[in-house]
Amino acid sequence: MARSYFIHTFGCQMNESDSQRMGEALSRAGWVPTAAVDGADLIVVNTCAIREKAEDKLYSALGRYRLLKAQRGTKIGVAGCVAQQEKDALLRRAPFVDFVLGPDHLEKVPQLVEARGRVETDFIDSHDYLFPQADPQSSRGRATAFVTAMKGCDNVCSFCVVPYTRGREVSRPYAEIVREIAGLVEVGVREVTLIGQNVNSYAGGCGFAELIRRVASVPGLMRIRFTTSHPMDLSPGLIRCFFEVEKLMPHFHLPVQHGADSVLLRMRRKYTIAEYEARIAALPATIALTSDIICGFPGETDEEHRQNVDFLRRTPYDNLFSFIYSPRPHTGAILKMDEWGRVPRAVALRRLDEVQALQMARTLERRRSRIGAEVEVLVEHAAGQRFGRSRENWAVHFDGDAQLGDVVRVRVASASLVALRGEQVAVIDRAPEMAATPRRSLAVVNA
Ligand code: SAH
Ligand code: SF4
Ligand code: F3S
Repeated sequence: MARSYFIHTFGCQMNESDSQRMGEALSRAGWVPTAAVDGADLIVVNTCAIREKAEDKLYSALGRYRLLKAQRGTKIGVAGCVAQQEKDALLRRAPFVDFVLGPDHLEKVPQLVEARGRVETDFIDSHDYLFPQADPQSSRGRATAFVTAMKGCDNVCSFCVVPYTRGREVSRPYAEIVREIAGLVEVGVREVTLIGQNVNSYAGGCGFAELIRRVASVPGLMRIRFTTSHPMDLSPGLIRCFFEVEKLMPHFHLPVQHGADSVLLRMRRKYTIAEYEARIAALPATIALTSDIICGFPGETDEEHRQNVDFLRRTPYDNLFSFIYSPRPHTGAILKMDEWGRVPRAVALRRLDEVQALQMARTLERRRSRIGAEVEVLVEHAAGQRFGRSRENWAVHFDGDAQLGDVVRVRVASASLVALRGEQVAVIDRAPEMAATPRRSLAVVNA
């Protein structure tokens, strides 16, 4: 009987996409996915190291999986950013783990299962790196897909561990990206999100703006999104795409991190608030702009926090993801912690609460202002109540008879912080007939 695997995914879209690639590599080697972790022969935990809490999730998951191993000999692998950060130290802390695999070695997962105690975490030099090719068949039955545009990060933001867990920037050749997207469209995918740690510094034979235009020329593709961008690399060409490329959705995640220049300097973000504001002022007014904020960064004074709040008050973000600073190994800020001064947790929490209260009120107001209006939705789930996303990337639940992949108009009846609810009023574009082959489930679970 074929052996079964279960992949438990934490973290960002990059990890979701990596889990899919690992699933495909295992399937090619004869493994089958299972949705029941208790019965799996292999469990791979794909991890995130961005904050301490993310890392803690790995160890609590391993605590549960260790019991399964004791009962039925389940093999356990750890992949992703904590694997890359800890390398063989992970095997010392959790000796029952069978293998540790960094993000550059996704396709080696079937070989590693056979070799106990192996650690595969070297970065592959940019000249030799080959991006894993997605198998479009594993996206059959989905309306949306992530497509890797680049990997790694060449910035040195002083809070961030990503350059240490994902290595240097490497861009994927544009022809490969366009080919992958054409394959995805053939199995019914209608929206792609181009992903990378720093996607707008893309350089895979053309710039990022040019990549978007090439992707937009793929026949049958309806929508394009991308994430994440660094404000320094926001080019005039990319801004023009938001005006000129109809398929590029009006949503832009452009993390600012803080509203005080002195903090941005300590964070080594390489822009001032005035520069950031000038750039976003050039974007179309209809864009739903979202951002990330860190509260309690080392040395953050009351005055700097006040500047942060003032900035957020005058910047019409559609939504905001805010975090308490978490010291990360190898980073610039952890080394300067004593010099700059650690912000007491209670103070950081109070500041975070203030930032979140401000944005929650505004997000709710923006959502409620759409009640009675119509939004355009691409249908992602069509069993029972329908679900999809608006052009601005808002989650929308609605009643109607739309099928997976249809683009419909929904009249909004109510709105909460997390989603709009409403009723289908028209079909704008029907999904093309898809081939009858059922989707191969990949048993990728997100936490
Ligand atoms: N490459 C992207 C995303 C980085 S990680 C970028 O440049 O913006 C996603 C978010 O996590 C960051 O934008 C930041 O707000 C947050 N983050 C990263 N490191 C952190 C840390 N040490 N503590 C708290 N939040 C952090
Ligand atoms: Fe981290 Fe900065 Fe790179 Fe983003 S740009 S991944 S925050 S180092
Ligand atoms: Fe986390 Fe690594 Fe992504 S640290 S956010 S999984 S790049």
